[in-house]
Amino acid sequence: MNAQTAAADAAPGPRPRLGLSGKLLVLTVLFVMIAEVLIYVPSIANRRLTWLRDRLAAAHTAALVLDAAPSGMVPESLTRQILDSVGAKAVAMKKGEQRRLLAISEIPSVLHQDVDVRNVSGYRAIVEAFQSMLGCEDTDLIRAVGPAPMGGEFVEIVVPMGPLRHAMVRFSINILLLSLIISAVTAFLVYVTLLYLFVRPMRRITTNMTSFREDPENPARIISPSARQDEIGTAERELAAMQDDIASMLNQKSHLAALGLAVSKINHDLRNLLSSAQLVSDQLSGLPDPRVQRFAPKLMRALERAIAFCQSTLSYGRAQEPPPDRRAIPLESLVEEVRETVNVSPNGPIRWIGAVERGLMIDADADQLFRVLVNLARNSVQVLEMRAPNDRARDQIRIAGRREGAVVVIEVSDTGPGIPEKARVHLFEAFQGSTRTGGTGLGLAIAAELVRAHGGEIHLVEGTIGATFRISIPDRAIEIGSRRGVRGRG
Ligand SMILES: Nc1ncnc2c1ncn2[C@@H]1O[C@H](COP(=O)(O)OP(=O)(O)OP(=O)(O)O)[C@@H](O)[C@H]1O
Ligand SMILES: [Mg+2]
Repeated sequence: MNAQTAAADAAPGPRPRLGLSGKLLVLTVLFVMIAEVLIYVPSIANRRLTWLRDRLAAAHTAALVLDAAPSGMVPESLTRQILDSVGAKAVAMKKGEQRRLLAISEIPSVLHQDVDVRNVSGYRAIVEAFQSMLGCEDTDLIRAVGPAPMGGEFVEIVVPMGPLRHAMVRFSINILLLSLIISAVTAFLVYVTLLYLFVRPMRRITTNMTSFREDPENPARIISPSARQDEIGTAERELAAMQDDIASMLNQKSHLAALGLAVSKINHDLRNLLSSAQLVSDQLSGLPDPRVQRFAPKLMRALERAIAFCQSTLSYGRAQEPPPDRRAIPLESLVEEVRETVNVSPNGPIRWIGAVERGLMIDADADQLFRVLVNLARNSVQVLEMRAPNDRARDQIRIAGRREGAVVVIEVSDTGPGIPEKARVHLFEAFQGSTRTGGTGLGLAIAAELVRAHGGEIHLVEGTIGATFRISIPDRAIEIGSRRGVRGRG
């Protein structure tokens, strides 16, 4: 990644056009407006009916006057006054069979709407309310029928649409203004509440995430969780724990990298030293002394092996082990080499028992398997030597090998004190499992890695005297076409 893209990656990114708080504000206003519309529709219908009922109530008085005039002879001027006060073009009342009308002349025969306020369905009231407001002229007429006073059957009035429409429009404007005020107040309250409860803590978390990402190894960048007990509090605590883990993991990784570097440097020089030792022993092997002749080849082999170790980078964690170079090898002689390397002599104070099935061949990388067994055997020798003076009857190391179908099982066991509880927890993890002074905690980690590279398994066998490690290494799957070639190699 070049510097430019790295910088772009580290930047928090463009600020969203409408942040969480902005979205909340808009949504709250929208929802309140929807609620207000739902309330407005029935209330405008109701407003129309109320207006008509008021007019009908006023018409009662007119009806009383009508009733009081015995012959129906009401003077023209009084009629006009009564109608003006009611706001109607005509008022009529039905009583028994008789329908008496108090009207002025210019009533057209066509009525635009006809409402019986005693009996009107909600749906019809709503539809007609909108028709009154939107689909009529001010001069259109509406006939309303309502209950009559003093045992009358009904009172009816004919009124012009204009005043009704104006009343309804005024009512709508009021509702609109009220809705705007309510939504503004509600939106503000919801906004402030959510801002403090939710948006600000969220913003704190996201800001912290961004800043932690810029420098994840810096413990000062880890979020300090608040005392909140809700979901945000949990998120903060979990985030803090996660950041803590990441920071310590990264710190450990950089220590390991530094260690890896140091090991490779040591390794480099060690290889050169060993090469000079190899030259010297090469010359030694030319001496005629029979004892030198006996030991020189062993020394040469040990040096060769050490140089090979150094060459295939030893630094654990920096370089991967090379893939195993597998071939069929006799296990018995390999175990014998392990014994010589860990320096357990046949008649020494520690008893070595080699219990490998006769002629057992294992499909493995000889050098890697050798390292696995040396690491296990050396651990056993180290724990047994801790209780020196040793006794052959008590202090024993046993390496057994057997074939179980396509799998070779090797067990390395000793009669030592067993694996301490503290070491068990991270037994096969690098730098973690050691409880020994001077131990680095790499032996078992290396052994496990090499065994796994063979597709095999290693584990501690529970319930034995001392410690027993069981390794199982399966043969490679043989492809039908190459069967002959593999056999030939074996
Ligand atoms: N055979 C054993 N008996 C008792 N304890 C053992 C045995 N093998 C391993 N352990 C315990 O397991 C720990 C880890 O072993 P491991 O070989 O991984 O590291 P180490 O021996 O401490 O260091 P290194 O092998 O890197 O020099 C040891 O410190 C020891 O406590
Ligand atoms: Mg060890």
